[in-house]
Amino acid sequence: LITPVILSGGSGTRLWPLSTDDQPKQFLHLLGPLSLFQLTLQRCQQDDLFDTPIIVGGARHAGLAEQQIDEVGAEVGTHILEPCARNTAPAIALAALACDNPQTPMLVMPSDHLIKDVPDFQGAVRNSLALAKARWLVTFGIEPAAPETGYGYIRQGEPIFGSANSFAARSFVEKPNSENAERMLDEGGYFWNAGIFLFRADCYLAALEEHNPQMLRAAREAMDKAVHDGNRVNPEEGAFSAAPSDSIDYAVMEKAEKVAVTPVNPGWSDVGSWDSLFEVQTPDDQGNVTSGDALAVNSTGNFLRSDGISVATYGVDNMIIVTSGNQVLVLPRGESQNVKKILMELNREN
Ligand code: GDD
Ligand code: MG
Repeated sequence: LITPVILSGGSGTRLWPLSTDDQPKQFLHLLGPLSLFQLTLQRCQQDDLFDTPIIVGGARHAGLAEQQIDEVGAEVGTHILEPCARNTAPAIALAALACDNPQTPMLVMPSDHLIKDVPDFQGAVRNSLALAKARWLVTFGIEPAAPETGYGYIRQGEPIFGSANSFAARSFVEKPNSENAERMLDEGGYFWNAGIFLFRADCYLAALEEHNPQMLRAAREAMDKAVHDGNRVNPEEGAFSAAPSDSIDYAVMEKAEKVAVTPVNPGWSDVGSWDSLFEVQTPDDQGNVTSGDALAVNSTGNFLRSDGISVATYGVDNMIIVTSGNQVLVLPRGESQNVKKILMELNREN
């Protein structure tokens, strides 16, 4: 069986004002009744393929996570509570160290995605299990649609002998600049990294040992001194805070040797920004996507969302307007990556 590892420690700042430190994106009810975190939990309930998951997230959101776990009736094996955020590479190290059997195959899943065709996705995981057992670090590749700079890019290499539909990766490039992203798209033969990984716990730890021994040492010490409380594991703060902050993509995947890619097409979308949320929903006759107390008159192509004061527009086109409590965000569609810049300004003022 595969042990799913669900990463739920991100802050999702690009979805401000809805996503906040207290309610980060993965716990929000963005599209329908279930949060992205709850959808991720449901994605790995398949008794003949998956063991109970390990959840890794921030200690301050432990209660919120557990409430959402209960709501969907999911069973969780281990809940690791990070005392501070050190990005994904150390978080995954904690999960790998929590596996009793070092050869456990882990399916690392972010909790900020939408996957439409879950059986298709699970099939790709099932088909890649033999590779993970043979010590490959398996990534899942999405056909790139645009020269996005917020993703990792995987260059497809030779087919791997004996595997149905996987390739060796010739290179892994995390978050290229736009020039390089455009070049890779023109050249062809590249996938977007879906952000989902399948590998044996010991293979991940070995790669970390090789490329980032200091990070591994910090994670190991934090787990050795961890406080256990039911299925909750609290890694020790002093040791964990010494881990360098880095993502798995930079710390391991760009450097590791035995990286494989399994192409998938399960209706994947990274709902990382207001623009991407607009794109995954079906607009009304006027081309608007509205939710909450929002009204568009003689206005087209807008994304209007009210989780606070109500919104009404007239003669306004192709805008994003989001309200949450007494906060209001207004920006043109296509610009929602820049929400981070607004937050930087706001934080400077406070
Ligand atoms: N536990 C824990 N601790 N989880 C974290 C932390 C942390 O410190 N930081 C981030 N996460 C979680 C996020 O909640 C998210 O579910 C996942 O880890 C990925 O982190 P992101 O910060 O969203 O990464 P990204 O979107 O910039 O890039 C990754 O995903 C892309 C696809 O969406 C990379 O893997 C890219 O290569 C990939 O293309
Ligand atoms: Mg992300």
